Amino acid sequence: PFEAKVDSILNLMTLEEKLGQLNLPSSGDITTGASQSSDIAKKIEEGKVGGLFNIKSVAKIREVQKIAVEKSRLGIPLIFGMDVIHGYETTFPIPLGLSASWDMEMIKKTAQMAAKEATADGINWTFSPMVDISRDPRWGRVSEGSGEDVYLGSEIAKAMVNGYQGDDLTLNNTMLACVKHFALYGAPEAGRDYNTVDMSRIRMYNEYLPPYKAAIDEGVGSVMASFNEIDGIPATGNKWLLTDLLRDDWGFNGFVVTDYTGINEMIAHGVGDLQQSSALALKAGIDMDMVGEGLLTTLKKSLDEGKVDMNDIDTAVKRILTAKYQIGLFDDPYKYCDLERPKTDVFTAENRAFARQVSAESMVLLKNENNLLPLKKSGTIALIGPLANTAVNMAGTWSVATKQEKSNPLLEGLKSVVGDQANILYAKGSNVDYDIDFEKRITMFGKDIPRDDRTDKQLLDEALAIAKKSDVILAAIGETAELSGESSSVTNLQIPQAQKDLLNALLKTGKPVVLVLFTGRPLAIVEENENVPAILNVWFPGSEAGLAISDVLFGDVNPSGKLTATWPMNVGQVPIFYNHKNTGRPLGNKEGKFEKFKSNYLDVRNEPLYPFGYGLSYTNFEYSNLKLDKSSITADGEITVSVDVTNSGDYDGKEVVQLYIRDVMGSVTRPVKELKGFQKVMLNKGETKNISFTVSVEDLKFYNSNLDFVAEPGEFHVFVGTDSSTEMMKTFELTK
Ligand code: IFM
Repeated sequence: PFEAKVDSILNLMTLEEKLGQLNLPSSGDITTGASQSSDIAKKIEEGKVGGLFNIKSVAKIREVQKIAVEKSRLGIPLIFGMDVIHGYETTFPIPLGLSASWDMEMIKKTAQMAAKEATADGINWTFSPMVDISRDPRWGRVSEGSGEDVYLGSEIAKAMVNGYQGDDLTLNNTMLACVKHFALYGAPEAGRDYNTVDMSRIRMYNEYLPPYKAAIDEGVGSVMASFNEIDGIPATGNKWLLTDLLRDDWGFNGFVVTDYTGINEMIAHGVGDLQQSSALALKAGIDMDMVGEGLLTTLKKSLDEGKVDMNDIDTAVKRILTAKYQIGLFDDPYKYCDLERPKTDVFTAENRAFARQVSAESMVLLKNENNLLPLKKSGTIALIGPLANTAVNMAGTWSVATKQEKSNPLLEGLKSVVGDQANILYAKGSNVDYDIDFEKRITMFGKDIPRDDRTDKQLLDEALAIAKKSDVILAAIGETAELSGESSSVTNLQIPQAQKDLLNALLKTGKPVVLVLFTGRPLAIVEENENVPAILNVWFPGSEAGLAISDVLFGDVNPSGKLTATWPMNVGQVPIFYNHKNTGRPLGNKEGKFEKFKSNYLDVRNEPLYPFGYGLSYTNFEYSNLKLDKSSITADGEITVSVDVTNSGDYDGKEVVQLYIRDVMGSVTRPVKELKGFQKVMLNKGETKNISFTVSVEDLKFYNSNLDFVAEPGEFHVFVGTDSSTEMMKTFELTK
C-alpha cells in the first residue's frame, strides 16, 4: 500500500541519502560492543542515519527525531530499535524461563506489555523474538531462547510476534518485531558463541528452521541475520538463506538487518574485505547494517565498479522506508514521543503485579522429597547464599532497559511475603565464586557480585551460625546473570565450587534445605539432585524476583513450570535432547544399563538428569484412559486423542499435558518422539478433566530427503503424559 509514496521519496534521494537509510548506528547510550560513533547528530543531519538503537528515554529520542525531521534535507524520520527481550523496565523472566510457563496467552501478554512500555519511552522496534533452537547448554545464549523444541519454539515465536506487533502497527503502543538470529545461531560447534555451524539441510528444515518460519508466517516485520556461517557462507552474506529461502520460498517482505558489525565480521570469517563483504551482504539480501557502516562507506565504490547496481540499493532502501510507513512514522514522526506516557505506562504497579505472576509461572520444581515445599510462614527461616540479596542479578541477561537496582531481591521479597509471621535470618555464605582469572573475564557488565572482604571461613561461619538457629534453610545459589547470555559460553555445567561447598556444609547441619537455584541454562546438578531434598529452579525471574520466588516457596502459587530444554547428567552428554533418532543400535533395556556394541556410554547412562517437559507440582496428576477416536486416518483426516487427567494430591494446580508423536517408519529416519500438542490446564484438588487434542495430517508431515514437506503412510505412536519420558501410548495408521 505504500509503494507509490515510497517511490516518490526514493526519487528525491541522493545516493548518500539512500545509503544513510541503510545505516543503523548504536546511540552509545547503552553499548553492547566496542564500536561507537561520536558524531551521530551530525550524521543524522546529513541524512546518513536510517535508525538508531539502544537509546533510552523518550525525551532523548524526541530530541534526536527532531534533528532527523527538521535538520536533514528530506526530513525522513528515524526508526528506534532496542533489545527489548523479556520486558522493558518491568522485566519478566529470561526467555528460557518464560518458555517454561508453556502459557502462550501469558507470553503474548508479556510482549504486549513490553511493547506498551517501550513505545511509551520512544522505542518502536525490538530485536525480539530470539527463536534459535539450542540443544547445547554450554552456549550462553540458550537463556535467550525457548529451548530445544521446534514445535513449542514456533508457538512461542508466534505469540511473541503477535504480542509486539498486535493487529495494528499504526497504533502507538505496538512495535515492529525482529526475529533473530537467522539462522541456526543456536547450534555453534562445541557450544562456543559465534562458532561455526554446520548441519545438513534435512536437519535444518526439520529441526531448526520452523520457529523462524513461524515468525515470518505471523507477519514479523524484520529479520536479523546471525553471526554464524551456513554451508560455509556467513549468514550475513548468504544469498540462499536471505533471499532464496527467506523471500522466495517463505514470502517474507519486510527488511533484514545485520547483527552488530555482522558485515565487518565477514572479513575475519575470511570471505572478503569490507567493500567485498558489504557488496556480498547487500546482494545476499541485507537491508540495514547494524553499527559497522560497511554499506554506508563502501557501496558508492562498488556501484562505480559495477559490483552492485542501483536496483540492489533501491530495493533495500524501499524496504526500510516501507517499514517506517508501516509503523506510521511518516504520518507522525513523534507518535512514540509523548513525554507524559512513561509516567502512566512504564513500570507501573499493575505491570509489576503481572510480572510477579509471570515469574512464578515460569519456575520449575525439580525435586520435592517428602513434600518439604511449600513452606509454612512460621518459625525461623535461614536464607543463605550469594544470590540471596542481590537486585542487579534478578533480571538476567539482555535486560538493557531494566533499572537493575529496582529489581526485588529474594531477601526483600521473603520479608515482605512472610511479614511478621516468621523470622528471617540472612547470611551471604560464600562468594559466587570462580577462579580469579575467570572472575576477571566476567566482570565487564557490572552485574557480578563483588568478592567479599571476609575470608571464606568467616562467610561460612556466619552462615552456619544462623543455619543452626533455623527450622529450614533456603540456599540461594547458582549462576550470576553474566554467567549466561551472549558471549558467556562455558565448558563446566556445575554450580561453582564455592557454592557447592557451602551447600554441602548446610546439608551437614541436618536441617532441611531447599535449593533456590538461579540459572540461565540447564545445569548438571546430579549431586544436588541426590542430596538436597527440595530444588526450585527460578531462572533469573525478572524485576519482581523476590516476591515471585516467595509466592512459590510458601505455596501461594503452586509451581507449574516445565523444562523446555533437557538437563544433562554431565557436560559430556551434550548435545542431549528428547527428540533424537533411534540409531541402528538402540539400547535393549529400559533401565539404561550398559550394553556392549550398543549406542551408549560406559560412564553415564543415556538418559538426562531431567527430561524435556519435566517439572513437579505440590499436587499430583494422574493420567488414565488414553483414547484415539479411530485407528486410522486418510490423507485429509484428523484424529482425536483424549486422556483423563486427575489432580489426586492436596493442592489445586496447573498441569501441562503434553502430546508426542512417533512416526515409526519413514523414507528418512524419524525422531523417537516429537511434541505435537500441549495444553496447560487448571485442576482443583480431586478434579478430573478429560483433555482432548486433534492431530491432523499436517502434524505428521516432515521434510524428506528432497526437502518436500510430506506425511508418509504407515504406523504412528501417540504418547501423552506429564513430560517427554512418558510411555503412555496408543497407535494409529495413516493410510494411503
Ligand atoms: O540484538 C542484539 C543481538 O542479539 C546480539 N548482538 C547485538 C544486537 C543488538 O544489540
